Amino acid sequence: MLATPELLAEASAADLRVGERLRDRWPVDLVAAASEQAALRLRATEKFSRGSAMLFTRPGLEQATDETVARHRAQRFDDVKGTVLDLCCGIGGDLAAIGAVVDSVVGVDRAEVHALLARHNAAVHGVRVAVAVADVTQLRVDGASAVFVDPARRSATGDTAGDRRGGSSPPLEWCFALPSKRVCVKAAPGLQRRLVPPGWETEFVAVGRDLKEAVLWSPGWATAGARATVLPAGVSMVADPTVERAPVRPPGAFLLDPSPAVTRAGAVADLAATLDAWQIDARIAFLSADTPLRSPFGRAMTIESSLPFGVKPLAAELRRLDIGSVELRRRGLAGDVTDLRRRLRGKGSRSATVMLTRVADRPWALVCSDLT
Ligand SMILES: C[S@@+](CC[C@H](N)C(=O)[O-])C[C@H]1O[C@@H](n2cnc3c(N)ncnc32)[C@H](O)[C@@H]1O
Repeated sequence: MLATPELLAEASAADLRVGERLRDRWPVDLVAAASEQAALRLRATEKFSRGSAMLFTRPGLEQATDETVARHRAQRFDDVKGTVLDLCCGIGGDLAAIGAVVDSVVGVDRAEVHALLARHNAAVHGVRVAVAVADVTQLRVDGASAVFVDPARRSATGDTAGDRRGGSSPPLEWCFALPSKRVCVKAAPGLQRRLVPPGWETEFVAVGRDLKEAVLWSPGWATAGARATVLPAGVSMVADPTVERAPVRPPGAFLLDPSPAVTRAGAVADLAATLDAWQIDARIAFLSADTPLRSPFGRAMTIESSLPFGVKPLAAELRRLDIGSVELRRRGLAGDVTDLRRRLRGKGSRSATVMLTRVADRPWALVCSDLT
C-alpha cells in the first residue's frame, strides 16, 4: 500500500513500478514509510532549500517555519551569548536557523520523533544542536540567555478562530510569563493585538503578499510597538504612534496596495508619509498619488480608470479600455465576486485588476494594471 491518496495521484506509472519492486524486497510498512517520506520531501522543497535531504512527519512539516522566515527571525538572536532554548522545536525549522547564528542552542519537544528529526535536520544544514524530549511546561528555563517558543497552534486542528484568540499549546499566557529577559514567541498572523502584553513588540511578517506570522518580542528585546517585515526583500518598517493619519483624497494616477504586514502593524500612515501619498478613504488601506508609488511594502499599480461602482458602467468602461479578463479584488465592499467576474468577462484583448472598494464611503471601482 502506498501511503497517501495524494502520493498515488502524483505517482507516475514508473513510480508505481518502483513501489512494486521495493515491496518485493522490503517489508510493506518500510516501503510505505519511505514513500510517505519521499512525498513529504517533495512538498518540503517549497519551504526548505535542503528539503530533499531532511526528514519529516506530516504535521511537523505543516507547522515548520519557512526557511526564509526562520533565517530572518534568527538574525535577531545573533548577539545572544550563552544558551538559547527553542521550546517546542518541532522538526527543527527554527532550531537550524537559530543554531546557525548562536554558539549554543537546545531544542525541546515532547514528541520524541520531532526532537530526533530536529537534530537530523539541523545537521543537514551543517548546524550542531542539542535536543531533549520533555513537556516544556515542566522545565525550569531561568538559566537560558534567550528563549524561543513556537507553540502548536489551534489551526493545526482547523480552528483558525482559536488562533486569533491566541489558543495554542502551551498557551500564550504561559509564554509571556517565561522568566527570561529575552523571549521570542511565534504566533498566528491573525492574532488579536489586545492579547499582546504592554511593552512587547509585535512583528508581522509577510513573504510576498502572504502574511505568515506575528512574532512577539519581549520587552527586553523590543525596539518598537509594532513592525511590518516583508520578505524576501528583507525590509522592515516600524509603526510610529506619533505619525499623523494619512490625508484622505480621491484616487490619483497611481495606487499602492500595501502588504498585509503593513496593514496589520498599523503602519499605513507611516508608509503614506514616506511616499508622500494619501489614502483614498479613511477606512481603506489603499494609497494613491500622482507619481508612481514604487515600494517593497506594497503592490504598485497604475490607475487606468476610476469610477463609482455599478456593474453596467464598469462593464462599459472595460470594453472601452479593450479589457477582456479581470482579476477582481475587494477591499471594503461585500458581494459575490464569482458572479461579478462572469458578468464582467468581455471580448477585449487586455487583462486588468479591478479593485472594488470605497472612496469617500461610496462603492467605487478602480481599473488598474501593474506598474512595470
Ligand atoms: C509549531 S510546532 C514547532 C515548529 C518549529 N518551530 C519548526 O520550525 O519546525 C509545535 C511543536 O510543539 C510541540 N509541543 C506542543 N506542546 C508541547 C509541550 N507542552 N511541550 C513540548 N512540546 C510541545 C509539538 O509536539 C510540536 O512539535
